[in-house]
Formats: sequence, structure tokens, C-alpha cells
Amino acid sequence: MTQQGRFDRLFATVSLSLFGVLTSMCSSPAKPVPPPAASATAISTQMPSGQLWGDMKPVVSVKELMRDMIDPFADNIFDAVGTVTTSNGTVDKAPKTEADWDKVRVGAVSMAEGAYLLKIPRPFAPSGDENNSQGPDAPELSPAAILAKLERDPVLWNAKIEALRNVGLEVLEIVRQKDAKALWDAGEDLDVACENCHLEYWYPGEKDLMPKLNERIRALREKVEGASKKK
Ligand code: HEC
Repeated sequence: MTQQGRFDRLFATVSLSLFGVLTSMCSSPAKPVPPPAASATAISTQMPSGQLWGDMKPVVSVKELMRDMIDPFADNIFDAVGTVTTSNGTVDKAPKTEADWDKVRVGAVSMAEGAYLLKIPRPFAPSGDENNSQGPDAPELSPAAILAKLERDPVLWNAKIEALRNVGLEVLEIVRQKDAKALWDAGEDLDVACENCHLEYWYPGEKDLMPKLNERIRALREKVEGASKKK
């Protein structure tokens, strides 16, 4: 490099850093501005209280909301941890990259926010779908029976919704701390939140048959996944 070239570079560096000093003097706060916290409490204190900004109108039934939103996004949380069998034995799977954690966060936000979509009055199943509710010992309640149950005690329905939302908030905090260990317990909590509502409203006959129930949920999930893969 020629002397002139070196000088030019030096000059460029000095003026660049001088520019940096000047701009940092102009832009006011010396402390770095923390990124906006997505915490529920932080947001609720910034919100105007009271009314909604507009009407909330349902698009699908509860059953479809489960199949097409709650269930698939719950898998972002359920599937984030687990034990995988490989040719070298079993390994624990856990989120590692930013993208892995992003996926868990998508699941957490979907649970925390999506839970409240269950507060919007909507049919429980598409019209004509009676669930598996016909005949003696039918395992599922009919949509009408579910609605009657909810209307007798709306506070209980809301409690189940809040329970789901709380797991969403729990997972959001875990994502913030990137605490992969805590994600195992959160997966359990999520499972319980789902099942406690299903046991009350969907197949109450199975309340004392927890093991059978676990199997059923797993089978259903596989069925839904299988169906979506076939498409
Ligand atoms: C507040 C109550 C409530 C919560 C919480 C809840 N569900 Fe549901 N879910 C229902 C009801 C009620 C039905 C049955 C609706 C019907 O068939 O009439 C249902 C049905 C389903 C179905 C069946 C869909 C189909 O196509 O047959 C799946 C799958 C499902 N839920 C998954 C989940 C998962 C996963 C969670 C937790 C992440 C969850 N649900 C949380 C109330 C709830």
C-alpha cells in the first residue's frame, strides 16, 4: 500500500469513529434501550382498560379450532423436548438454535393468546357432526350436551381456558430464559391443561381412566398428523 493509501485509510477510520462519537452524543440515552418486553403484565399496564377494539367473530367450531390451531401449535412445545432413539442409542432432544427457540415461542404465544379464542361463543362441532355421542356408553358428549354443561357453569369453562393460557405464559418465560430443562415440566403442564378440559367437556366418562386417556390423545394426535401428511 502506498503512503497516500495508508493515509486515506487512516483518515477514513478517524472520521468514521469521530462520526460515531458525534452521533452517540446526539442520540440521547446513554443506557442501551432494552428491547420491548413481551410480558403479559407489561402489556396489560400499557393497554386502555375495558372494551374490546371491535367485535370478535368466530370462523370455526371448537373442534376445528383444536384440530387446526391449538393442537398443531401445542406440538411446537410438546415436540421441542424428548428422547430420540438413534443408531448410537438414545439422546435427549432440546432446543439449541435461535430457530429452535423461535418455534417454541410460536407455540407459547399461540397457547397464551389462542386460549382466549375459546371465550368467543362458537359451535362445538361443525353442523351435522354429533361427535361420538350416539348409543349407550358413547364415549363423547354431543355438541349440545357440551354447550349445556358450559352454560350451567361458564366460570368452570373459563377456568380451563385460563389454565391453558397460564401454561402459555409459563413457556414464554422459559423461552426468555432459554431454560431447556424447564421445558420438560412445561410439556407435562400443557398436557394436563388440555386433558383437564377434555375430561370435563369432551369425554367425561373417562375421568377415572387416565392411562387410557393418554393413549387416546396420542392416537388422536397421530391420526390428525397422519391425515395432514396424507394431504
Ligand atoms: C377449555 C377447554 C379445552 C382446552 C383447554 C383444550 N381443549 Fe381440545 N377440545 C375441547 C373440546 C370441548 C373438544 C371437543 C369438541 C367437540 O368435538 O365437540 C376438544 C377437542 C380436541 C381435539 C379433537 C379435534 C378433532 O378434530 O376431533 C383435539 C385434537 C384437541 N382438542 C387437542 C387439544 C390440545 C392439544 C389441547 C392443549 C394444548 C387442548 N385440546 C386444550 C376443549 C378444550
